[in-house]
Amino acid sequence: MPELVVLPHSDAVHEEAARRIAAACQQAQDARGVFSWALSGGSTPRTTYRLLREARIDWSRVEIFWSDERAVPADSPHSNQRMAREALLDGVPIPSASIHPMQPDPADLDGAALAYEAEMRRVLGEDARVDLALLGLGDDAHTASLFPGTAALDEAERLVVANVAPVIAPRLTWTPRALRAARCILVLVVGASKRAALTRALQSPYDPKRVPIQSVIHDHANAIVIADREAAPHEPLA
Ligand code: 6PG
Repeated sequence: MPELVVLPHSDAVHEEAARRIAAACQQAQDARGVFSWALSGGSTPRTTYRLLREARIDWSRVEIFWSDERAVPADSPHSNQRMAREALLDGVPIPSASIHPMQPDPADLDGAALAYEAEMRRVLGEDARVDLALLGLGDDAHTASLFPGTAALDEAERLVVANVAPVIAPRLTWTPRALRAARCILVLVVGASKRAALTRALQSPYDPKRVPIQSVIHDHANAIVIADREAAPHEPLA
């Protein structure tokens, strides 16, 4: 079971997330010199990112990746890269060479997935292990772009694949294998619309094809879910 931290409201979730991310950064830099971080897409982390602009972080020793991206131009309002740049990266002194955006060429998404996998291995080493993977949760229990019933959930070798998506555009996504390799997984869940999905993620039997986030957090040694009260399961966890 992942650790579940329930806080009274969304602002508290973002404050706690920012605090934990800054601490994970410090710990990784002390231990290994560099902090490698896979960002989440979606809208939930925007406030956390904004708070991190003010955190005491040595940005010269941070490597930024994305765990998924929509196949849209980088300046699209739907671009995960654009959101993170506007909320965080444009406001901190991080070298541009340390920012590793996905390049989701709609004409060759599989080629883009392979290129990103190569970039991860170049920067992170053969095991492509990041210190922190920040994730969100969809109402259908997807995380990154691992949607229920999709082929990416069956991928055992690759780190990044192209995947279909029910909304916006096809995606590039890290596979469960790549996400599970993260030293720490932090999932932010806010709002009543997420309660059913979070309850299934934490309480229903392991069935990742139906509840994709289970493929990432189930039995992971260091997975933490931070939720507000509206998103948290009603019943106490068994
Ligand atoms: C994406 C995501 C996705 C997201 C969830 C939650 O690119 O869409 O990475 O997994 O985190 O859908 O999205 P919200 O934070 O917008 O609710």
